[in-house]
Amino acid sequence: MTLGIVILAAGQGTRMKSDLPKVLHTLGDRPLLQHVIDTARQVAPERIVVVYGHGGDQVREAVPDADLLWAEQAAQLGTGHAVAQAMPQLEGMDRILVLYGDVPLIRAETLQRLIDCAGDGLGLLTVTLDDPTGYGRIQRDADGEVQCIVEQKDASPEQQTICEVNTGIMVLPGARLAQWLGRLSNDNAQGEYYLTDILAMAVSEGIPVAVTQPDEAVEAEGVNNRLQLAALERALQRRQAERLLLAGLGMRDPARFDLRGSLAHGRDCVLDVNVVIEGDVVLGDRVRIGPNCVLRNCRIDDDVELLENCVIESAHIGAGSRVGPFSRLRPGAHLVGGNHVGNFVEIKNAVIGEGSKVNHLTYVGDADIGRRVNVGAGTITCNYDGANKHRTVIGDDAFIGSNTALVAPVTVGPGATIGAGSVITRDAPEGQLTLTRARQTTVEGWERPRKKPKA
Ligand code: UD1
Ligand code: CA
Repeated sequence: MTLGIVILAAGQGTRMKSDLPKVLHTLGDRPLLQHVIDTARQVAPERIVVVYGHGGDQVREAVPDADLLWAEQAAQLGTGHAVAQAMPQLEGMDRILVLYGDVPLIRAETLQRLIDCAGDGLGLLTVTLDDPTGYGRIQRDADGEVQCIVEQKDASPEQQTICEVNTGIMVLPGARLAQWLGRLSNDNAQGEYYLTDILAMAVSEGIPVAVTQPDEAVEAEGVNNRLQLAALERALQRRQAERLLLAGLGMRDPARFDLRGSLAHGRDCVLDVNVVIEGDVVLGDRVRIGPNCVLRNCRIDDDVELLENCVIESAHIGAGSRVGPFSRLRPGAHLVGGNHVGNFVEIKNAVIGEGSKVNHLTYVGDADIGRRVNVGAGTITCNYDGANKHRTVIGDDAFIGSNTALVAPVTVGPGATIGAGSVITRDAPEGQLTLTRARQTTVEGWERPRKKPKA
């Protein structure tokens, strides 16, 4: 049987109090709508149609997936009206699964179970809540068979006591749906075309209705305001942390871990508290990451130790290196391996050869540093002349004295030593001491100024 999915995403989301359409607010740096689309793909539908309205093109541009189909709902006249807008694009689908763009944590396993239990009838995903206020209630008869769904604003006091509610997620038989949608009326408390009204139509035609519930209630939770968005962010993070822990990643406290992208890891890696991972991050084996590190689109090889408070972005840290505390690796930083990078060191677009050390208070930008080089405290590669960037090249086994300014383009030869406090503007030859500092003198008979006595 063919499966089409329609994702309802036309609502405005007034309660977010935001200029951004609601479905573009993010969880783990991915728009709510993208979460739903990614999950929808996992049940292998023939087509996915997104019903959009509020925010129009902004929504379409934010979700560039080429194979998506889009249906505009210019005025939000209700969930039934929204599905009707997608029907021309769902022609020929045996089953139609309705999802909400603002219910991001639904799992593919749950959707598959719903599809399977629906057969060629109707499938309804419900949850039972302690406080069902606001939701459509599932009205069952004396035998427990579902009769209809009653919206909160249309429910009698007795119906309002029903705790089983409609999540909004349902599977519908494609062949019957167009006809049912055509029969909807908006004669109800909200003056809307309710998708939920088709349930009673199906029941009256003897179409079987199957009901299933998600494993976790959070799967069915929607986002209407920023409080709910924040709660679902925590739920997503807990879910991700649990998955990683079970996959063997060590974590000192899964409640203080944030993944906003993808994380691949080898064996016996351990993350201390408040580590934030963004984009795509790959860890080798036995990587240790200290508290408060931010890792964005980077690769960290085996046996690397990252001490606390490092920011690593689009960088590659080779095996056995030790970085931090308080180090910043910017795009294009490549530590080849066995390196030490210490506090208040910034490295950008530079290769640091095997075993080289940059331990304190240093800026290395646009540089190629060889092996076993020691870069002294306070060294600066002056890579920018105000108009263009230039490279600094340092050969193997060189020693750069503290507080050296290397004015690029410049080359320091292999084994060269640069005296502390030098400003190097021309190439320094291999194996020799080069320094630019004035010779130290001691002034005979010099005296400190003294305070004048008060008159
Ligand atoms: C709907 C259900 C209710 C269920 C609840 C679960 C109906 C009539 N009611 O109520 O039974 O308990 O969801 O959260 O279906 N949307 C559109 N176009 C519209 C209207 C809505 O795209 O014209 C989209 C919204 O953006 C949202 C979803 O449909 O993603 C649900 O709309 P919402 O107004 O939140 O539905 P409820 O009134 O909460
Ligand atoms: Ca509503």
